[in-house]
Amino acid sequence: MPLRSREWFAGREELAFQHRSALRSMGLDPDFYDNKPVIGIANSWSDLNNCNQNLRQLAEAVKRGVLAAGGLPLEFPTISLGEEFMKPSAMLYRNLMAMDVEETLRSNPVDGVVLLCNCDKTTPAQLMGAASANLPAIQLNGGPRSVGSWRGQAVGSGTDIWRYWDEVRAGKITQSDWRDLEASISCSAGACNTMGTASTMTSLSEALGMMLPGVSSLPATDARRLAAAEGTGRRIVSMVHADLRPSTIMTAAAFDNAIRVLMALGGSTNAVVHLIAMAGRLNITLPLSRFDELSRTTPWLVNLSPSGDFLMDAFHGAGGVPAVMSELKSLLNTDCMTVTGQVLGEIISRARSFNREVIRPAREPLSPQGAISTLSGSLAPNGAVIKASAASPRLMQHRGRAVVFHSYEDMLARINSPDLPVDADSVLVLQNAGPKGVPGFPEWGMIPVPQKLLEQGISDIVRISDSRMSGTSFGTVVLHVAPEAAAGGPLALVEDGDEIELDVPNRRVDLHVSTEELSRRRANWKSPVSLHLRGYPRLYIDHVLQADEGCDFDFLRPRNAEELKFVPPLVGRS
Ligand code: FES
Repeated sequence: MPLRSREWFAGREELAFQHRSALRSMGLDPDFYDNKPVIGIANSWSDLNNCNQNLRQLAEAVKRGVLAAGGLPLEFPTISLGEEFMKPSAMLYRNLMAMDVEETLRSNPVDGVVLLCNCDKTTPAQLMGAASANLPAIQLNGGPRSVGSWRGQAVGSGTDIWRYWDEVRAGKITQSDWRDLEASISCSAGACNTMGTASTMTSLSEALGMMLPGVSSLPATDARRLAAAEGTGRRIVSMVHADLRPSTIMTAAAFDNAIRVLMALGGSTNAVVHLIAMAGRLNITLPLSRFDELSRTTPWLVNLSPSGDFLMDAFHGAGGVPAVMSELKSLLNTDCMTVTGQVLGEIISRARSFNREVIRPAREPLSPQGAISTLSGSLAPNGAVIKASAASPRLMQHRGRAVVFHSYEDMLARINSPDLPVDADSVLVLQNAGPKGVPGFPEWGMIPVPQKLLEQGISDIVRISDSRMSGTSFGTVVLHVAPEAAAGGPLALVEDGDEIELDVPNRRVDLHVSTEELSRRRANWKSPVSLHLRGYPRLYIDHVLQADEGCDFDFLRPRNAEELKFVPPLVGRS
């Protein structure tokens, strides 16, 4: 099959002349590179994204691999989504980054691409864009950061911040110790070293077949990651020659595998939204019911923080994703193709767990069911999620009276007030914190436990919102309630004192208020007025889909197989 880049460099001569001349202006000899695959390296490095700091070094190693395999590497920047700095949420910009990746690939002489990701949203954004462009693509992450030590204890990114912050609020930790923790917890480049959203998404990229086996969990500072980058560069050249595209790899069967791995990992609830969005780009529908169906028959195996005890360095030492998939083998679609050119079954036949405390055998799981449950009911007609593995077993079936916050600001203003009418049985409800409501679907769902309860020794309480929570968070937290309050979902109608019932074993979340009373409230309900009248946030509000549909933009998903196959014709520059 002729290379796509030939259209630029060997097509209409007056244009090809200009394109070859452009290569010469970069010091590249078009005769030497004639008919060699052009490999784009989509680099999400940025000084504004601490988690992606090592991607420049990895890009150089990828280039070495591409050159060694006979390709021409051309690195390009994309926007970067750093979870720590971006406000209100990097999630607001996931779709923008996906568009950046897709359109850069579509508009340039690229035959294949290496996607360099790390922090949470960079991984799904790149895969969404690459799925839509559908050029041969392989992903490589920057890896988890080194594990810090504080007071002789290993401390995990994010998770230990939330844990110790509660201790600060309860007066058990001094300000000086707190500042020491700040310096100790993020002690190298790389992504969060818990099984938060970043590690979950890079693990799922590997499980889908879009990353070389065993690479996602390699530590950021490990020299083997540089070797893996070289190998990734070599491999993409072969993928171009074999015309191995994302649509061949990211199939419905591969998404089922990824969902099972998510459940076995005890991974982030954010992955539910991202997988739905990624699949949607390939015209594959993943209803929440599919997650629940697979969760009920997938054991939770991986003992990692925030659900369990260990951190990503231990996970890698235990065998990483291939070891998990080998334990799940009988549940997986092993004939799925991967970037290696081998099917999954061949890859995991060589894998096993080297530490059964960290990656448990399927016959001795941490739980016989997966870590995430999806819910529905009168409070969430289109669904909601809960990370049962990180919740309190005593609250899995619970009835309580609502304490309602109408916005994040309202919650911050009142959560620690001694006058807040809350007790251990209350259900905290946060409204207007969803995709359209903010906008951007921030991670505000882990509402802090009110100070007065912390002082009574109560560390968990049922919390419900249309928001998300960090993959490093924990607690009995119902998230992604759909439709969201700002879109007029029943969550918008909840008032203080209403009875709410959470029943995770039966996958229900219900608001016990009469239909007549809800109709009365709905007649008085007014859609919140957004201050965003222009620009990208306005585009987001007008086009973002709800959480159960992946929060992609409605116009970015193909509506049928014909739209999926459509490739815009290349039109020469005048
Ligand atoms: Fe970037 Fe966790 S904040 S990976």
